[in-house]
Amino acid sequence: MKSFKLDSNTEALFEEMVGPPGVWNESSKFQLDFFTQIVGITPQSTFLDIGCGVLRGGVRMVDYLEAGKYTGVDIRPKAIEMGRELITRFSLDQKKPNLVVSGDFGECLLGKFDFIWAFQLSYHLTDELVKDLFTAISRRLEENGSCFMNINTLFGDNNSKAWKGFPFYKKERQFYIDLADEVGLKTEYLGQLKDFGYTNKVKGQYNEMLRFSR
Ligand SMILES: C[S@@+](CC[C@H](N)C(=O)[O-])C[C@H]1O[C@@H](n2cnc3c(N)ncnc32)[C@H](O)[C@@H]1O
Repeated sequence: MKSFKLDSNTEALFEEMVGPPGVWNESSKFQLDFFTQIVGITPQSTFLDIGCGVLRGGVRMVDYLEAGKYTGVDIRPKAIEMGRELITRFSLDQKKPNLVVSGDFGECLLGKFDFIWAFQLSYHLTDELVKDLFTAISRRLEENGSCFMNINTLFGDNNSKAWKGFPFYKKERQFYIDLADEVGLKTEYLGQLKDFGYTNKVKGQYNEMLRFSR
């Protein structure tokens, strides 16, 4: 199995783009483990990673999935550029990931996906943007597909521009349930990230994981 190890300086540069320091490997591995060990993804599944950042988790998904099955979208061109660099570093170009700079959550894409992943994204979005996110998810999700999203119900004072110019919000679970309902999706509460082995080094361990499906 590939190690996906970066030297410490490079790792710090990549990690600085997507979250708090010191959990790059754990957070990367968590994402693949969640889909392979809990969700039951297969290499043939189509996968949309919304807010994929520099492919911290995406690089392992690209490695796991068959060529052309992974699509990642992110609003920051620099993140997508670094994601492409990571793909090349780990010799994964032949997997042909579709990496797109987009702030519309995949509205610009064609086709539907078996799995949609919105990891560490929801709490950076205004209410209005979360609504747009659900519209895009509903449009892009296969009939029997599932979307997984972590949400923050506990921390923060909803101050603006808290992380790299993005706000950091706390919202009730019900808020997401209602928006999902509006676009025809039902919600299942799965537990907190720590229940699925997420690192206990960061507060994100207490984020809730939700599953949306038709
Ligand atoms: C905390 S990072 C997480 C990145 C990645 N999911 C990971 O686990 O490493 C949140 C990402 O969401 C992206 N983002 C924020 N608003 C977005 C939007 N409207 N559309 C797409 N991506 C967005 C940011 O650029 C950032 O890369």
